[in-house]
Amino acid sequence: MSGKGIGFGKTILFGEHFVVYGLPGIASAISDLTTAEVEEGEKFELVDNRPAVEGYKVKKQEEISRELDSIFEFMKIDREKPPLKITLAGNLECASGIGASAALASSIARALSEHLSLNLTDDQINEIAFEGERGGSGTPSGIDNTCSTYGGMITFEKNLSGGPNKIEHIEVGKPFEIVMVNTGITQETKKVVADVRAEKEKDPEKYEKIFSDYKKTVDEAVVSLKEGNIENVGKLMDKNQELLRQITVSCPEVENIVKMTKEKGALGAKLTGTGRGGLVICLSPGKDVTKTIVESAKAENLKVNVTTLGKK
Ligand code: MEV
Repeated sequence: MSGKGIGFGKTILFGEHFVVYGLPGIASAISDLTTAEVEEGEKFELVDNRPAVEGYKVKKQEEISRELDSIFEFMKIDREKPPLKITLAGNLECASGIGASAALASSIARALSEHLSLNLTDDQINEIAFEGERGGSGTPSGIDNTCSTYGGMITFEKNLSGGPNKIEHIEVGKPFEIVMVNTGITQETKKVVADVRAEKEKDPEKYEKIFSDYKKTVDEAVVSLKEGNIENVGKLMDKNQELLRQITVSCPEVENIVKMTKEKGALGAKLTGTGRGGLVICLSPGKDVTKTIVESAKAENLKVNVTTLGKK
């Protein structure tokens, strides 16, 4: 007998890094997902058949191994007795910024729950996935595992006192198309989050001002998303990208893609997730602009994906 589970990929529309400090973020699951299957084997084994951008699995090897340790420890499961074989697959192409580590954690938690007949609820799966993320990347906000576990579009606010995080589902006024362009650079979340913290400690006043500007941006974004005012959402994404530059998480490769997609007609463009590489998301006003951006990205040998968010 085997147990199976899934975890969604995600994209952060507003607030990567800011969410670590208790500010609200907006994220959405995407339809691409990771699947996990758990069965008894000869010895403990992880077979990773997930599609991934070049270099991702090597760069993330230690992070994945720490994630697994934390999941088994938190669930109090001995992976050697009996030896478990975990097989990961699915159509989510692993890359920085797509929530691959959170999707790994929630899919494995679900598969273990089914394999061992634990009947865990989504809230329990989310808790396990958070522990996995904590082992893997240090001080996660919880936004990634929440999206991976529950799906849909959410606002997320980390409870800095340790109580339950504030999570609300957003009903989007009008579905919209997002083009995701990959810089091809994989980053370690733990390191980039730690760098931002160090910068903030060096200049708390500067960060206070940036955080206050960000809060205004995200509050307006929630209203615009609900109203279906996509043009304004785009403008606010640009503002968010400016603030991400100020906290040092952009990089020339991200900036080139932002510039290119804006020139081709994107309503807004920003990095998503860890930053300093990974993915750039841009908000497209419609099919024609999407096609132009996709063709331009491909002409520059960049990997590109299109997804529709906010569908009922
Ligand atoms: C990573 O996808 C998002 C970060 O804000 C880290 C986190 O929230 O855990 C950079």
